[in-house]
Amino acid sequence: MKALITSGGRGTRLRPLTHTQNKHLIPIANKPILYYAIDYCREAGITEIGIVYNADSDAVPKAIGDGSERGVKITYIPQEAPLGLGHVIKVSQEFIGNDSFVFYLGDNMVVGGLKRFIKAFEKANSNCHLTLAKVKEPQRFGVPEIKGKRITKIEEKPERPKSDFAVSGIYIYDTSIFEAVNNIDFSHRGELEISDAHQYLLDKGYKLTYSEITGWWKDTGKPYDLLEANRLILDNIHADIKGKIDDDSLVTGNVQIEKGSQIINSVIRGPVVIGKNSIIENSYIGPFTSINDNCIIKNSEVEFSLLLKECRVIDVHIRIEHSLLGNDVEIIKSHGKPSTHHFFIGDQSRVELI
Ligand code: G1P
Repeated sequence: MKALITSGGRGTRLRPLTHTQNKHLIPIANKPILYYAIDYCREAGITEIGIVYNADSDAVPKAIGDGSERGVKITYIPQEAPLGLGHVIKVSQEFIGNDSFVFYLGDNMVVGGLKRFIKAFEKANSNCHLTLAKVKEPQRFGVPEIKGKRITKIEEKPERPKSDFAVSGIYIYDTSIFEAVNNIDFSHRGELEISDAHQYLLDKGYKLTYSEITGWWKDTGKPYDLLEANRLILDNIHADIKGKIDDDSLVTGNVQIEKGSQIINSVIRGPVVIGKNSIIENSYIGPFTSINDNCIIKNSEVEFSLLLKECRVIDVHIRIEHSLLGNDVEIIKSHGKPSTHHFFIGDQSRVELI
């Protein structure tokens, strides 16, 4: 079995973070989103992975490399134009050859990995195994109609969904999917829709099976979606302390602290991850917080937040909560007169004050 992972798309929903980086490279719990997909594949015993990327940017190949660091072999497949997920599969036919494969949308995250889905696909001798998750707004997704235990129809972003399930971005196929993507037409939005390929398989009598999943995440356009992904991942971490904690600090719950980081006279209440060479001094870090490398938090309180690299939060006397700080962001107490708030903020940022 091989795997095919997508890493394209413009990431417009995750602006401003995606002004400067591909959304698949944004770290959740200090690990780039794309690494979750790669690691899940390796854990399931898949080492041959194709990553499809926007041909106009080498950001992903540059950042991820050949996969040897993560124990896999990555082949990069350029996609010249964003013509849909069916098209992604089409351009990857040579890489897949005659194998079965996991098709993984690189911006999806799922708790618990892939093994159980691969087992279900193999056990059922299926041509196409889908993973379904209950969602509040199925009209944003591919939606199945289910009768008894069988999927009878799949529609892409239907106005009137036939169930409250979304087809999540983790699919397992045998080679019959190539017949499907080579026979469907472009949709009204100019894409080869993955749901149309699934409908093709149903129409031709291929065997389509599914697993129901929980603990699935995908950004759905809400500004703080990444915090939800962060919560999902942190909920499942184990304690691992490699940094230094002084005697005046109290660290409880599942907390990971990387090498070179120091906790000085502070309270850390997990689940929390802290990257390399960060300093937490005279501060409180509350549950569901990820702090990346080289950050400084001093005389401040931070909870349920995601801080990327090199952030500085210093002498802030109001607790920062439910917040997302990009790389190299500074929130500090203002000194001098007049005593006012100062902002120096990039495009599409958002600040909420009390
Ligand atoms: C795509 C698929 C959709 C699926 C979703 C899962 O949607 O077209 O069927 O439910 O991924 O992530 P898109 O992300 O392109 O809106």
